[in-house]
Amino acid sequence: MLNFRHNLIKLIPKLLKAVIAQTAPVHSALSTCYSTSLKYSFSISNTLQKVQNPNCSKYGITPAHRIHQSQLRGACSLVNSGKPLREKLMHDFELPSPLSGGKVTIVGLGHVGMACAISILSQNIASELVLVDRNPDKLRGETLDLQHGLAFVRNAQVYGDTQYSATAGSKLCIVTAGVPQGPGDSRTSLAPKNLEIFKEIIPRLVKYSPETILLIVTNPVDTLAYAAWKLSGFPANRVIGSGTNLDSSRFRFLLSQRLKVVPSICHGWIIGEHGDSSIPIWSDASLAGVRLRDVDSRVGTKKDVENWSQLHQEVVGSAQEIIKLKGYTSWGIGLSVAALTRAILENSQSSYAVSTLVQGIHDISEDVFLSVPCILGDTGVSRIILQTLNSAELADLHNCAKSLYEIQKSLHF
Ligand SMILES: NC(=O)c1ccc[n+]([C@@H]2O[C@H](COP(=O)([O-])OP(=O)(O)OC[C@H]3O[C@@H](n4cnc5c(N)ncnc54)[C@H](O)[C@@H]3O)[C@@H](O)[C@H]2O)c1
Repeated sequence: MLNFRHNLIKLIPKLLKAVIAQTAPVHSALSTCYSTSLKYSFSISNTLQKVQNPNCSKYGITPAHRIHQSQLRGACSLVNSGKPLREKLMHDFELPSPLSGGKVTIVGLGHVGMACAISILSQNIASELVLVDRNPDKLRGETLDLQHGLAFVRNAQVYGDTQYSATAGSKLCIVTAGVPQGPGDSRTSLAPKNLEIFKEIIPRLVKYSPETILLIVTNPVDTLAYAAWKLSGFPANRVIGSGTNLDSSRFRFLLSQRLKVVPSICHGWIIGEHGDSSIPIWSDASLAGVRLRDVDSRVGTKKDVENWSQLHQEVVGSAQEIIKLKGYTSWGIGLSVAALTRAILENSQSSYAVSTLVQGIHDISEDVFLSVPCILGDTGVSRIILQTLNSAELADLHNCAKSLYEIQKSLHF
């Protein structure tokens, strides 16, 4: 080993001389030499500093070499000291095309907003994430914290601003800003305060991103999706409430627990209002395509001795249960919003239960937003699936529409 080290040290000046002559093969030899020398903990910087090499930046200091070849970089900077560091590091040959994958804005960096951000980032869904909050310290802290993890995700940019001009050109704007639900608070009780917040936020988003899609998460989500539609003046397909996508995934999880399988092969829709009056569509619930009601027609009814309808009660109570235990809900809604974001940005045309304008659907006469299975893509909601609902399910949906309409009438848009 000592002999090897000795020979290597002797070799370095020769290689450096060759670099000055700018011969391409030497570049790769030099890289090998540097890596090897660092591996054996040599200090080559003294030798390098004696060498005048004005073209060292041409010699491929790639990101992969950046840390390990810090000694070489230090030596080069002595030579090119008149130029900014960036120019010493890189020669701009052909700049990359603008980032693809879509720009996403998140307004409101509380528990929910940050869970959405980390879910979107860690799944490499968006290439550009703009964070907005009215609290500048929180905004800066959360932005820095996320930025410090960017080395571990694929080509994403994250920046934060209190000014909405930073959101310009967003493909999707996710709104989670608002007063949170406390223990014992109903979602609907938050409507008046959160509507006032929306009057501030929505027009600003629209001003800078007139072609964007609005994805509303703030509660009560159905009423506020309606408010966002009114305040934005957008066509209804471009305003979506996260709706019962989360309730449906809670339902599928609970089904999977009882059936002792994974949630992804359990299917079941929860539609209607995100909240206490949501509607489980037992007639459709299935395991890998096998409808539970084809196996036992009593599933989900009052005659059911196994009491499967209890699962829906658990879905309805789950937000309050989590709030009681940890103070807020975040991870489930974050992952749910990330799935919707992916569908929109990737134009996947997959189906999700989200809140949309349902006037005229299933004979609903009120202009309200409620969740039904929708196909999502780059135009927002591209289609609404017309489920075959039985008379009880239909009656529940109509009651939901009526009660939401009453809440809406009491608000001033
Ligand atoms: N739809 C769902 O399934 C679902 C699930 C969970 C929570 N939520 C709702 O999400 C909302 C946020 O919950 P949270 O726990 O993150 O609350 P939080 O209090 O932790 O965060 C709210 C954030 O909004 C910001 N904010 C308030 N007003 C603003 C304004 N005018 N402009 C910019 N930012 C503003 C606050 O500074 C804060 O950072 C609540 O309404 C909650 O009920 C919805």
